[in-house]
Amino acid sequence: MRWACLVGGTGSNLRALIDDSAPIKLVISHKAGVGALQIAHAAGIAQVVITARQYPTREHYDEALLRVLRDNGIEALVLAGFLRLLTDRVVDAYAGRAINVHPSLLPAFPGLHAVRQALEYGVRVTGVSVHLVDRGLDSGPIIFQEAVPIRPGDTDETLSTRIHEVEHRILPEAVRLLDSHRLDVSGRQVVIREA
Ligand code: GRF
Repeated sequence: MRWACLVGGTGSNLRALIDDSAPIKLVISHKAGVGALQIAHAAGIAQVVITARQYPTREHYDEALLRVLRDNGIEALVLAGFLRLLTDRVVDAYAGRAINVHPSLLPAFPGLHAVRQALEYGVRVTGVSVHLVDRGLDSGPIIFQEAVPIRPGDTDETLSTRIHEVEHRILPEAVRLLDSHRLDVSGRQVVIREA
């Protein structure tokens, strides 16, 4: 399948996907000048920046996004640091073919700053969730989850580093499974089919 990676940050997950030979044909960022765009450039992947400032509403933004995706024949999406909630139009257009990575064990700590939320709450264990995108906020059916214990003295930075290591391993694996049509979804359950 032809994949687009939606980004907005440093792009370490994009790099992990590229290193795993994921078929990323397009990188779309909601922010200019971010590391993810440099990584895409270095890898020779086409890039598009669509900033919120260009559009009066989320609907207008997502119309432009859909147009770019369609113009590029994109069949599947992987969201890695794209800090915008997609509207139903985009979610429905890519239902079952869009994956997000989130730095917590969902449904705990959805939304922004999940690592900080976990530290502030004082949980002993947090982790990573890789899930299909649905119309809610970080609420779609879960493909993989992996726990990351919180150590005494952990900061946002030290914990994020260990969380990223897990993300870089399990996100490419999920993309590979979806790309090879090995994910079956039944209600909230994702079943992984044998190769
Ligand atoms: C990751 O922690 C991911 O879980 C979250 O945004 C961060 C993106 O990091 N959705 P990077 O840009 O891939 O380094």
